[in-house]
Amino acid sequence: MKGIILSGGSGTRLRPLTKITSKQLLSVYHRPMIYYPLNTLIQAGIKEILIIVAPERAGDYLNLLGSGKEFGVTFTYEIQDHPEGIAQAFLIGEHFIDNDDVAMILGDNIFEDYFAEEIKSFKGGAKIFAKQVSDPERFGVVKFDDKLKAEKIVEKPQEYLSDYAVTGLYVYDKRVKDIVKNMKPSARGELEITDVNNWYLEKDELSVALVKGEWLDAGTFDSLFKAQTLAKEKIAPKMVI
Ligand code: TTP
Repeated sequence: MKGIILSGGSGTRLRPLTKITSKQLLSVYHRPMIYYPLNTLIQAGIKEILIIVAPERAGDYLNLLGSGKEFGVTFTYEIQDHPEGIAQAFLIGEHFIDNDDVAMILGDNIFEDYFAEEIKSFKGGAKIFAKQVSDPERFGVVKFDDKLKAEKIVEKPQEYLSDYAVTGLYVYDKRVKDIVKNMKPSARGELEITDVNNWYLEKDELSVALVKGEWLDAGTFDSLFKAQTLAKEKIAPKMVI
């Protein structure tokens, strides 16, 4: 299993904090934000990690994270020229993924849980992780049937569908590269991760696990503020980096 951290994007909702740096380099308690998703991948046993960054910030990431040796892993870096969607990571990472399975995590996602078992038991198809939230309209949302099987996934639904948000950790088999190659950008001009998930769902090859511990994406002032306390109280004491 290879790993990708998608750490590009514009971070417009956090301006002016993100005017001169990347969102995922802002501090969350005692570490830069990206250490948290990196810790999640490392604790899941992943050793080869691709870090995708925006062109203006590439040097900062290289200075901060280096080769990976310090963390006992190997880093590869790629540039995302324009933020054209989360699923674009699999086109950028095509050669890196090669013939392996891949776990991708978003650079602003902070999880309390560990995923070693979920990742080790992955046997093809797709696996995503959902969490009940109070503001599902901000996320891709998954509706379950009465047997807790995923029935439908909708990106930022305008009408209520369910409280279960799709979090920013996704595990796919190597087919994901070709799936994205055949996809078209959505109305907002992005290659949508929800379309990738629906491709696997339609083939009955998508499994959805529930996130038990706390999770947040630190992309707004309020969630970045909450992240500080969550990190200090629940995550930092158990981090390995
Ligand atoms: P978002 O929070 O949706 O986008 P953003 O980070 O650009 O912020 P804003 O909406 O405030 O402008 O992105 C979620 C995560 O995915 C975040 O870690 C950035 C990353 N991302 C990319 O790296 N490239 C992309 O093309 C997109 C859409 C997101």
